[in-house]
Amino acid sequence: MARLNDHYLKLAAGYLFPEIARRMDAFKKANPSADVIKLGIGDVVLPLASAVREAMHAAIDEMATAEGFRGYGPSEGYDFLREAIAEHDFASRGVRVDPSEIFVSDGSKCDSANIQEIFAPDATLAVSDPVYPVYVDTNVMAGRTGAPDESGRYAGIEYLPCTEESGFLPSLPTRPVDLVYLCSPNNPTGTVASKAELAKWVEWARANEAILLFDAAYERFITGDYPHSIFEIEGARECAIEFRSFSKTAGFTGIRCAYIVIPNELMGRDAKGNAVPVAKLWSRRTNTKFNGVPYPVQRGAEAIYSEEGRKEIQANVDYYMANAGLILSGLSKAGFKTFGGVDAPYVWLKTPDGMDSWQFFDALLSKANVVGTPGSGFGACGKGYFRLSAFGMRSKVEEAIDRITRTFG
Ligand code: MLT
Repeated sequence: MARLNDHYLKLAAGYLFPEIARRMDAFKKANPSADVIKLGIGDVVLPLASAVREAMHAAIDEMATAEGFRGYGPSEGYDFLREAIAEHDFASRGVRVDPSEIFVSDGSKCDSANIQEIFAPDATLAVSDPVYPVYVDTNVMAGRTGAPDESGRYAGIEYLPCTEESGFLPSLPTRPVDLVYLCSPNNPTGTVASKAELAKWVEWARANEAILLFDAAYERFITGDYPHSIFEIEGARECAIEFRSFSKTAGFTGIRCAYIVIPNELMGRDAKGNAVPVAKLWSRRTNTKFNGVPYPVQRGAEAIYSEEGRKEIQANVDYYMANAGLILSGLSKAGFKTFGGVDAPYVWLKTPDGMDSWQFFDALLSKANVVGTPGSGFGACGKGYFRLSAFGMRSKVEEAIDRITRTFG
């Protein structure tokens, strides 16, 4: 028998969302007439924007001609998309990002999972708790941790508790680490970091020669005066990498397109202590392991920056945020303690009657036929909390809230 990677065996049995789907399917099998409403995984439901559809159609037609046909594209993305991103996502907010610092990919899940590969096998890391599980699991797979304790925390990772008392914001690590994963607007708590908060992180990272891995996949959902990019913070170009995604912003969860920004100034060190540009390693990795996002997909992504595309995308974002508003007000009326949902498409709530997260999951599913995400699936500090996603059709969200308030209010 071939030797396996033992580090995978340290992982909890299943990835969170397939486990939720498994429990939901079992419930549906046992209760075939139940009309189950899904507010669990953050997956978009609105149809593709017409600007995107038309751009993708046109790209396919172009490829069906001898002159317009394209084979392998540049692994790091076509210039037309990298330039559009630099202009519309950064320059328009006064942020300097060069198109060459943008690497187009097939998703932020993959990017935030893969980035750890270019760091040393013994690189140290800190994560928020609760946390998007991908950051942790991929480092476990890579062998950077020991076994988990009974609360599910892996030895070797510094967990930064995000509690109600701290406004769900992580405190600075207690010791220097190489990498810190940050997510704002936050998945799962729906909270958002202020400029002062991010400035504190940049200052710490620079002082400790750490790199911030900043996940901004939900920046488009910010409604208040908060940074959309870590690069809005002075000095971040020397200490941060940013992840952005078209998934939730533009309905691309099934189409797949995202990007990562690695500034030219960002350096890591080799075994001898020499400074090496981080982007050089990511570029090397990308060119070895990836042949780029399909041309029609990149044309579709580019279309969200057209006048029409911008309007359509904003309308979709507004629709989801109106859902979040309905969830928040419905839950509050029913007596739930809620967080988030104002600058992020996730509402975080305290489970009622001292139920633990999975008990509430089961109660919600069996009594209200609504699926959400147990907070404990995101880490020990998520225990006793629960996440509802605002990515649903309005009628379903209204129905779900109605059922929840009737059942638990
Ligand atoms: C979530 O529900 O947390 C997200 O949909 C997961 C993801 O984007 O991979």
